[in-house]
Amino acid sequence: MRRILSFLAITAVLVLTSWEAADAAAPSSKKDAKSVRGPDCVYVGTPYDVIDKMLDLASIRKTDVVYDLGCGDGRIVVAAARRFGCRGVGYDIDPQRIQEALENVDRNRVKGLVGIEQEDIFTLDLGRADVIMLYLLPSMNKRLIPQLAKLKPGSRIVAHNYDIEGIAREESVTFRSLEDGVNHYIYVYTAPLKKKDATEP
Ligand SMILES: C[S@@+](CC[C@H](N)C(=O)[O-])C[C@H]1O[C@@H](n2cnc3c(N)ncnc32)[C@H](O)[C@@H]1O
Repeated sequence: MRRILSFLAITAVLVLTSWEAADAAAPSSKKDAKSVRGPDCVYVGTPYDVIDKMLDLASIRKTDVVYDLGCGDGRIVVAAARRFGCRGVGYDIDPQRIQEALENVDRNRVKGLVGIEQEDIFTLDLGRADVIMLYLLPSMNKRLIPQLAKLKPGSRIVAHNYDIEGIAREESVTFRSLEDGVNHYIYVYTAPLKKKDATEP
């Protein structure tokens, strides 16, 4: 059992460390007319039990609007709509992911609640969002800070595995997924963002 767990942990580390390398070879062949450039990281879906935990930590209400920045196959916004009846928008730059997310929305019959849009997340106005979900590289989280700084007061940000450098967290949770058997790290922030003080880890 310990051997299997170590194997899974090593595999997860290898996948994550390959993100930046994969970025260098961003798939120009996947670009369509709307996509002006490739994604800034590769797609890795958040396990469903981790999504449930992220949704718990976001304290979502039915009236909330949930954004997933880099939504992949749309699993987070679909899960939020199914569980809370809230609205959501998933943004991704990769046309293949957009196609998968649209199919996911259809399959789960949440078209009335969930929108999927092909956009570069670094160009978005986040003013309408109550909850922001992130599963991106640390450098991407950092680059989003000027946009996140304009969130409505009280909006929540829930980041998977990578925190937002220099920003004070409300909560951090370690969650072992039964789906992949490894620990996942979840970080919660509330707007307005506050700078981390030097003594915080
Ligand atoms: C690690 S995946 C996370 C997928 C999903 N949020 C989840 O947790 O299951 C990151 C996603 O970000 C997308 N992405 C990367 N750079 C982007 C950008 N500049 N604008 C929009 N999406 C981007 C990738 O295409 C990929 O689907």
